[in-house]
Amino acid sequence: MSKKSFNVAVAGATGAVGNQMIACLEERNFPVNTVRFLASSKSAGKHLTFRGKPVIVEELTENSFQHMDIALFSAGGSTSEKFAPAAAKSGCVVIDNSSAWRMDPQVPLVVPEVNAHAVAGYTRKGIIANPNCSTIQMVVALNPIHRKFGIKRIVVSTYQAVSGTGQKAIVELTQQTEALLRQQTPENKVYPHRIAFNCLPHIDVFLDNGYTKEEMKMVNETRKIMEDDTIRITATTVRVPVFYSHSESINIETRLPATPDDICKLLSDAPGVKVVDDVKTNTYPMPIDAAGQDLTFVGRIRQDDSVANAINMWVVADNIRKGAATNAVQIAEILSTNYL
Ligand code: A2P
Repeated sequence: MSKKSFNVAVAGATGAVGNQMIACLEERNFPVNTVRFLASSKSAGKHLTFRGKPVIVEELTENSFQHMDIALFSAGGSTSEKFAPAAAKSGCVVIDNSSAWRMDPQVPLVVPEVNAHAVAGYTRKGIIANPNCSTIQMVVALNPIHRKFGIKRIVVSTYQAVSGTGQKAIVELTQQTEALLRQQTPENKVYPHRIAFNCLPHIDVFLDNGYTKEEMKMVNETRKIMEDDTIRITATTVRVPVFYSHSESINIETRLPATPDDICKLLSDAPGVKVVDDVKTNTYPMPIDAAGQDLTFVGRIRQDDSVANAINMWVVADNIRKGAATNAVQIAEILSTNYL
């Protein structure tokens, strides 16, 4: 029997994702009894609002989760590592947006359109992981194709917005752009190189295999969410001077033959997907249109004639919404309706 309303904590409430988590709880009418907004000590005492009423931000501590039912975490990996177990110990279910718990076999990694059933595994550690933003939009678009035609191999290149790095990167792109337009020298604080009018083939840290951690997240998380370790995946992740929405060029090879028309029809009925594909009218998904939306937009669906059974497509979604906040609140909805 589901409770009627829930006490919800948002850890990282003052950040780019935390802010949208609060907006999603409001917009989707999540049944909230009380909210608690948590951040670092420097934000303690600040005012945020929830449903028109002021809420004072509190410092995140191990005691923040008493009497809370659900905690949405987006305060960085080390904060999640430190505080998620304490929250779970207080009897609160954690939905964690960091990469800290995603590959833990005891922790479900959930995209509701793909593996909602995995939420049930929350009982093992009291933690559910929200996947990487680039992975979420890719699996929303590819899972229906995998179920019908079987995906053998994925080659993906991403064009990722700076908001994925957090509020400070949004400020950095703005300031660098302003400085350059005034013919001043821009400062780099967030990224190792200038991001304004540039592209960085470097997201998260480099690993010993020459890939970045972001690239390997796309490989490993996709297999975990789609529950298929046989899919061969390779990724190149690139930061581009866009504020909101990640774009992805995706090439897939399928086991069964599929035409672009088959894929278009299949995705037109797929949950969370909108096909935007009419090249005659220059219609295709773009970050400026996806920003602020919760759907994953797919276009430029076309045959790859260089190899058998291969398709190319272009996939765009708001990285802060479906790539983070919306997905976390959708998980909270499944949890609250079916399990709490
Ligand atoms: P604060 O604003 O007080 O620094 P973003 O991803 O946009 O940079 O946001 C990160 C979020 O995580 C912010 O709300 C930030 O709070 C919060 N945060 C960062 N470090 C900590 C910490 N050690 N304890 C609690 N909250 C933290």
